[in-house]
Amino acid sequence: MTHMHVAGSLHAEAAGVAPQWLVPPQDVNALLPTLWSRTTSRAEDGQLVIGGLPVTEIVERTGTPVYLLDEDDLRSRCREYAEAFAGWGIHYASKAFTCRGMARILAEEGLGMDVASLGELEVALSGGVPGADLVLHGNNKSELELRRAVEVGVGRIVVDSSDEIDRLSRIAGELGVKAKVMVRVTTGVEAHTHEYIATAHDDQKFGFSLTQGRARAALDRVEVDRHLELVGIHSHIGSQIFDVSGFEVACRKVFALHAEVAEAYGRELPEVNLGGGFGIAYISTDEPLTPAELATRLREIVELECKARDLQVPRLSIEPGRSIVGPAGIAIYRVGTVKQVDVGGGHSRAYVAVDGGMSDNIRPSLYAAEYSATLANRRSDATARLSRVVGVHCESGDILVRDEFLPSDVAIGDLIAVPGSGAYSRSMASNYNHVPRPPVVAVRDGELRTLIRRETLDDIFALDVG
Ligand code: LLP
Repeated sequence: MTHMHVAGSLHAEAAGVAPQWLVPPQDVNALLPTLWSRTTSRAEDGQLVIGGLPVTEIVERTGTPVYLLDEDDLRSRCREYAEAFAGWGIHYASKAFTCRGMARILAEEGLGMDVASLGELEVALSGGVPGADLVLHGNNKSELELRRAVEVGVGRIVVDSSDEIDRLSRIAGELGVKAKVMVRVTTGVEAHTHEYIATAHDDQKFGFSLTQGRARAALDRVEVDRHLELVGIHSHIGSQIFDVSGFEVACRKVFALHAEVAEAYGRELPEVNLGGGFGIAYISTDEPLTPAELATRLREIVELECKARDLQVPRLSIEPGRSIVGPAGIAIYRVGTVKQVDVGGGHSRAYVAVDGGMSDNIRPSLYAAEYSATLANRRSDATARLSRVVGVHCESGDILVRDEFLPSDVAIGDLIAVPGSGAYSRSMASNYNHVPRPPVVAVRDGELRTLIRRETLDDIFALDVG
């Protein structure tokens, strides 16, 4: 790898171990707009201001680590989706992050929710999202989950197995209602980031495969069921996707099936759900599509498929999770130790250890997910140094930000901010090493609002019945 020199701003030895995509910054204090929530800026005194509040003032009140949720950013993304996808069903995917305050925001912004467990279902309802605006997912939904979903009139139950169709039909029959059902199909398209694979990805647990007629058989089975109303086909192809080519291939297959059953049933199914998965920027090289761009491209794809098959364009829906809440979240940590470590070949990097770790964000260790970070409590004139932000846990894989240039004077007591922390951080957090989970605090117009309070050791002890 070639050395990448930026005049005076970089320790020369660092470039040798930096990944190719990580360009040494011209200004280590700069905030790249694609990475940071919309109200985040650096104030005159050099510290970050989020939602109108200086970060040092925020953490004086919340402590660290803390997940901040930039509420204006979140709401503006909800509105962009609502505007760009006007006429579509938009069901925010709860798994990315949910709590009652979050559900209330979504209800206020007029979005529905996708829920994938009884817990997510109850949170959505208690946050004020009407049952009719919910989509229920799950590859092994329990009797209890299905019964509750039917009782509260969940708008769409996405069936995932033949056993489930039997179970749901019986429950709907017992409750004397006709449940609205979509059939989850797997198209063999699996998309992640910039790549999609369109070979047979049948060897996985979700949905009904298009091969061997399994999806068709499931649709036929629901279509004739007295207790089920077949609303349409559901397809979700993956997560953190940056281009629409995977959707294009999936749509070709979905609409072929849609046309096939229209012919067989003598009616066109009213709805197609394209799932979620739209990518966000975690690092400088990530270039996500805007909701407007996405909507235009997806609309074109669907219209083309429908025209080619002489079909009406059905009602369409999507389930974005990450792209709504991810960019609104910023995790703030406090530095506890800094270590310069030789990594061989005359290279070294700084290990900046903070007061959180893989218990509050498992994504780097689980998926090798990349993140960015910045010094949050002050500006620095020091040189940029290749750094790795690590946590407190007893594993060398306990990494929060694998590669980032941070100022070489980062010291004990400094604050580190990690953008893109709104999705799948809190929702996948654990108590590994008996570390209590951080709070989620909304910031807006200079006000703090705790959505989820900090967990305490007492909370953890309360479960340990001795
Ligand atoms: N709809 C369905 C049926 C899904 O399975 C998912 C995500 C979504 C919508 C929302 O996808 P999103 O828009 O958030 O990408 N824990 C992983 C992501 C798992 C996604 C699972 N399904 C991560 O942290 O990257």
